[in-house]
Amino acid sequence: MTTILGIESSCDETAAAVVEDGKTILSNIVASQIDLHAQYGGVFPELASRAHVEAIGQVVETALHDAGKTAQDIDAVAVTRGPGLIGSLLVGINYAKGLALMTGKPLLAMNHLEGHVYSLWITQPFRPVVFPVLILIVAGGHTELLLMRDHGIYQRLGGTLDDSAGEAFDKVGRLLNLPFPGGPHIEQSAIHGNPKTYEFPRGKRDASYDFSFSGLKTAVMREVTVAPSADARTKREPDNEKKSQLRSEVRVSDVAASFQAAVTDILVEKTVRAAKEYGATEIFIAGGVSANQMLRQKMRKDTELPVRYPPLNLCTDNAAMIAAAAYYRLQMGLNSSLDFDALPTWALNNTTYEK
Ligand code: KG4
Ligand code: ZN
Repeated sequence: MTTILGIESSCDETAAAVVEDGKTILSNIVASQIDLHAQYGGVFPELASRAHVEAIGQVVETALHDAGKTAQDIDAVAVTRGPGLIGSLLVGINYAKGLALMTGKPLLAMNHLEGHVYSLWITQPFRPVVFPVLILIVAGGHTELLLMRDHGIYQRLGGTLDDSAGEAFDKVGRLLNLPFPGGPHIEQSAIHGNPKTYEFPRGKRDASYDFSFSGLKTAVMREVTVAPSADARTKREPDNEKKSQLRSEVRVSDVAASFQAAVTDILVEKTVRAAKEYGATEIFIAGGVSANQMLRQKMRKDTELPVRYPPLNLCTDNAAMIAAAAYYRLQMGLNSSLDFDALPTWALNNTTYEK
C-alpha cells in the first residue's frame, strides 16, 4: 500500500488530501476562496496567495488527521508545480518542501493538468482502462484536448487559443449579473431557459483541434446588454459596482441556456471527432466544467464510445487528484528532488517530466 499526501494551491483552492494506491481517498480537504474573490468577479492573484498562506497549515493538518495519519506515516508528498498562479503555486511548493525535509519523505512535483486526468482514476467502482483514451480537460484556466496513449504518455492535440471554457462561463455569468463563479450558476439558470432563443456563434469550426471562446462572450454581450452611454463609460466606478445592464426583454435563463448550448456544442464536436480520428477506446472529461450536466449528456449522446467523468467533488480543483497522479509517477520512477521552482505555464505532453 502506498499512501501519498497531495497538496494543491495553483489557483483559488487550498487543498490537501491523503490517497492510497492512487485510488482510495482517505481524506480530501478543500478550502475554497470563492467568497473572497466573489466581490471582484474573478480570482485576485495577490489576495489568493495571502489566503493560501493563511490556510495551508490547517488544511494539511486536517487532511492528515481525517486520514488517521501522521506526517511520518505517509510514503511520499506530492505538490502541484504548475501550471497556475506563481504566487499561489509557491505557497504549496514551499510548504511541501518543508514537510518533505522534516520527514525525509520523497517529494513529487506534479503537473496540475495531469492531476485532472487522474481524477478519473479515483472514480469507484473502477473499470480497467484500455489505451488510447481521448481526454478533454475543461477548467477555469484550461481547455485541452489530449490523447493519452499510456500512463504518463500524452499527445496534445489542441487547446484554447484565447479564453478557456470555464472563463467563458465566468465572463458570461458576470454579464448576466450572476454570482462568481459563473459556471454552476449558468447551469442552474439554464434549466428554466430555452437554448434555442439565441443562435450564438460556434467559433473555430475548422479542421484543427483548437478552440476559441473569446468571440462568444462578445456575441453574448452585443445581443443582450445595453451599450453603455458615453457618460457611463467615462464615470469611474470600482469594478465590483459595475453591473451590466440587460435589455429589458431579455430573460437571463434563455441567455444562459443558449450560451451553454453553444459552448457544449463546440466542445463535444471536436472531442468526438478527435476520438474517432485517433482510435480512442473511451472519452474522458475532467476539470471544473466537466461538472456540467449538459456537457455530459451531449457527449454521451453524440458518441458511441463510453464517456467517463469524475464525481462532482473531484471536477473542480482538489488535492486528491494530485496524490493520485503522483502514485502513477512514483510507479514510473519519477525522481524526487527538493530543487525545483514553480512553472506557471507548463503544458502536459510527453516531455512534461523530462526537465
Ligand atoms: O478545475 P477548476 O476548479 O479550476 C481550474 O483548474 O482552472 O474549474 C473552475 C471552473 C470555473 O470557471 C467554473 O465556472 C467552472 O469550472 N464550473 C462549471 C461548473 N462548475 C464549475 N462550468 C460549467 N458548469 C458547471 N456546473
Ligand atoms: Zn484545475
